[in-house]
Amino acid sequence: MRGRIPDSFIDELLARVDIVDVIERRVPLKKAGREWTACCPFHNERTPSFYVSPAKQFFHCFGCGAHGTAVKFLMDYERLEFPDAVEELAQSVGLTVPREGGREAAPREDKSDLYALLDGAARWYENELPRSAEAQAYCKKRGLDADTIVRFRLGWAPAGYDGLIKALGGSDKRMQLLTEAGMVATGERGHRYDRFRERLMFPILDRRGRVIAFGGRILEKSGEGSPVLDPSAQDARKNEGPKYLNSPETPLFHKGRELFALWQVKQANTSLARIVVVEGYMDVIALHQAGLPIAVATLGTATTPEHTEVLFRAAPDVVFCFDGDRAGRAAAWKALEAALPRLRDGRQAYFLFLPEGEDPDTLVRKEGKEGFEKRLREATPLSDYFFGELAHDVDTASLDGRARLAERARPLVARLPDGAFRDLMAQELEKRTGARANVPAEPSARRAVQRPVAVQRSLVRSAIALLLAQPGLADLVAPPYRFLRLDKPGVGLLAELLDLCRARPGINPAMLVEHFAERPEYPSLQKLMAAMVVGEPETQRAEFLDALARMEDQAIALRREALAAKHREGTLSSAEKAELRELLAARRPSAAQG
Ligand code: UTP
Ligand code: MN
Repeated sequence: MRGRIPDSFIDELLARVDIVDVIERRVPLKKAGREWTACCPFHNERTPSFYVSPAKQFFHCFGCGAHGTAVKFLMDYERLEFPDAVEELAQSVGLTVPREGGREAAPREDKSDLYALLDGAARWYENELPRSAEAQAYCKKRGLDADTIVRFRLGWAPAGYDGLIKALGGSDKRMQLLTEAGMVATGERGHRYDRFRERLMFPILDRRGRVIAFGGRILEKSGEGSPVLDPSAQDARKNEGPKYLNSPETPLFHKGRELFALWQVKQANTSLARIVVVEGYMDVIALHQAGLPIAVATLGTATTPEHTEVLFRAAPDVVFCFDGDRAGRAAAWKALEAALPRLRDGRQAYFLFLPEGEDPDTLVRKEGKEGFEKRLREATPLSDYFFGELAHDVDTASLDGRARLAERARPLVARLPDGAFRDLMAQELEKRTGARANVPAEPSARRAVQRPVAVQRSLVRSAIALLLAQPGLADLVAPPYRFLRLDKPGVGLLAELLDLCRARPGINPAMLVEHFAERPEYPSLQKLMAAMVVGEPETQRAEFLDALARMEDQAIALRREALAAKHREGTLSSAEKAELRELLAARRPSAAQG
């Protein structure tokens, strides 16, 4: 178990990180006055209502209500848990996350045990590799060099049913984790055994380089997929099961979301213009080894919309590479459909079909890096592939055929996000069919952004919200806070916030809110913060001072009334008398009533 992350570190982190950078790296932002905007990544929309405030280090979507700090954004966007989001942010600015306390101090669920276990499994397989002559021979035969084996952490799952269990499953707890991680399978009679046996192991890493799953390849002995002719049981077992066996879906591994080697690609390139998606583990590895560390693979599944989003976040150009056969073409069309809704302006998809009988692995070994790069340059743009494929069995010379083409293309074009690319595709469709695409795309007629109507809040709530928006306002007041005499909900919290801000000059809104991360007030503070994300600092300053003044007036008025009542009853002490006199003197003509 990891210890708790100290609050002071979250402070330091939020002071170093710029939320605009963090979000911009994932969602393209446009400047809009003091803030930045985008179409909200958390709900579907065509006009931007997502705002990021650099001054407040906070984001807010006026459409769906999503809001928070940079940490919260990462949690939501990358689906990370709190400690992982903090780790990720820390890494991006070169900080190391300190831990305090022990297990009982870490109340949030974390999966670090699973990660540690899978990393241990990868290490164990790595160590087994040099000990297996047949695995070594296979690597050699496939042309894998030592550096590649290290870079991809390739390993060997030896024969036998409990090698991994013996090495790592030393307790009930660990057995349970091994099972949860998909490394152990359970037989009919309930006995448990290693899932991966006699396989070359390919660890699958997440976007932070942690092992989350494995793929394992059998070593072919008597030809791929062909029946085993040798009747000896030993050899029969070698060809048991699929050619590649992957980990099942686990809490850490979701096939539809992960891409093999994305981490290696990110390690090898600081900025990436193009990323290539291929079908197999070996294809990826061969391309990397050949000097093209820009290849990733889906894991034995069709390309999902989630994959395409991850791909486009990695690079503006995505090349989908498929076999030229029927299965390859079908897979390519699936990839196209998954890509359509993600094709915002600036993103381009290409399709590369390989000659029959070849895959990227065999091709790059034959043609080298240059040969493969040439193929990449000549890949078919999505629009050509799109219209070519839709028109391949229709006669576009006939009216009928063109109508059919239009009918097929329209719903697909409609899936493209608003923008120049969609307009171009609609025009192209019109050119090819003579039919108007009839796709509503009116970028000029975008609705005005809806800003929140100023809500009437209680004075205390307003003061808190304004202080959250501009913690520097705390310097305008000094204790003892006279408004404290106002006995209303939230007054104590306001005082606490003021103290915090005064004790921490330069604290930003995000840091301030995160101080309350584990307090029951956290959600309401976040909401108050969100409501203030767009606003003029000068106006807010005036409103803040006004709110405090009015609170003070109210407090004085209430106290005065109480003392006056006592006075009428004749129970006023001499100290109270002095206080009442003082209060009457302090009475200001502007004192508001409510
Ligand atoms: P291929 O059968 O095309 O193999 O599977 P390959 O990538 O060329 O592998 P080598 O060169 O024979 O070693 C392509 C991909 O489909 C998935 C794997 O991800 C594989 O890399 N696959 C294939 C499976 O998940 N299970 C299988 O049984 C076969
Ligand atoms: Mn292959």
